[in-house]
Amino acid sequence: MSKTIAVIRGDGIGPEIMSATLEVLDALDCGLEYEFVEAGMVALEKHGELLPRATLDAIAKHGVALKGPLTTPIGKGFSSLNVALRKHFDLYANVRPAISFPGTRARYENIDIITVRENTEGAYLSEGQTLSDDGEVAQSIVRNTRTGASRIVRYAFELAVAKGRKKVTAVHKANIIKTASGLFLDVAREIAKEYPQIAFDEMIVDNTCMQLVMNPWQFDVIVTTNLFGDILSDLCAGLVGGLGLAPGANIGKGVAIFEAVHGSAPDIAGRNIADPCALLLAAAEMLDHLQMPEKGTRIRNAIRATLEARDRVTPDLGGSGTTATFADALVERVRA
Ligand SMILES: NC(=O)c1ccc[n+]([C@@H]2O[C@H](COP(=O)([O-])OP(=O)(O)OC[C@H]3O[C@@H](n4cnc5c(N)ncnc54)[C@H](O)[C@@H]3O)[C@@H](O)[C@H]2O)c1
Repeated sequence: MSKTIAVIRGDGIGPEIMSATLEVLDALDCGLEYEFVEAGMVALEKHGELLPRATLDAIAKHGVALKGPLTTPIGKGFSSLNVALRKHFDLYANVRPAISFPGTRARYENIDIITVRENTEGAYLSEGQTLSDDGEVAQSIVRNTRTGASRIVRYAFELAVAKGRKKVTAVHKANIIKTASGLFLDVAREIAKEYPQIAFDEMIVDNTCMQLVMNPWQFDVIVTTNLFGDILSDLCAGLVGGLGLAPGANIGKGVAIFEAVHGSAPDIAGRNIADPCALLLAAAEMLDHLQMPEKGTRIRNAIRATLEARDRVTPDLGGSGTTATFADALVERVRA
């Protein structure tokens, strides 16, 4: 059975890491076909807009997109394309696994934490931002809803069930932010009761930061509001060696977009030294989503074995390989 996905190669190192990723996907024989569409600087130069209608239509049509990093031009009038995509498709769940791999410069081993971040509301959105005329008072609204909290908490529990996870921890600041964070915590407590097979735990966000550094192995699935999730998921990426191995998924009702967490790395673009692992791990998440979990596992295992052998890996991982040689090493292993 074949399935077409929308593919955005992206800016900067995007085309290089996307080529490597598609080579590995093709070697896996997953029956995927690609509709290549554009966004970001490439689209701006070619079509005069950062996010062309044809790109949105292709993502809507196929329901699944694999996306390289996009450069958001600096300056007024350009808002983040990633935020625009989340809004357009109501991609309410941002899912970021942090998994230990060998041969990295990580400080910890055996970490396996998934952060599920609410992606559409809360403090991160900075709704209604104002600055008084005298420049003295800046404010914005923090708006969480029962509907928003319910769907993200339920998503986290369903993910825990689907992935055979044992525990969900709801991270909040309800002791101080009594309404906005309190609503999220109330909803989490209610929904947890529907999943007696999954342990439920709640933790205040500042303590969570300390606990993640002191004893990260106590965490399994973390579910939290938008801004806390933004910060905690980077902290978790740091536990496993940084953004080079950090995939992300933005999931809505009918559309899911998979991407690397890192950006377009203009400083190394075009030099064939970018590490393709984060995008490949995002592709592995995509295969899980497309009900091909054994293929996703093959990608993760190939990355693990290649890193362990330090075989043709890129300079960020201490190797002297290139993006292309790294891809070759991975292709050999997924085929083996
Ligand atoms: N998801 C996205 O599309 C996304 C995410 C973050 C930033 N951005 C955009 O990317 C551009 C650059 O942002 P930035 O420099 O702050 O962050 P960045 O993640 O692009 O780069 C930070 C540092 O990490 C290195 N790096 C990143 N990815 C790497 C890889 N795969 N292999 C080896 N090294 C890698 C870079 O060389 C750089 O030194 C900006 O325009 C920003 O808006 C896009």
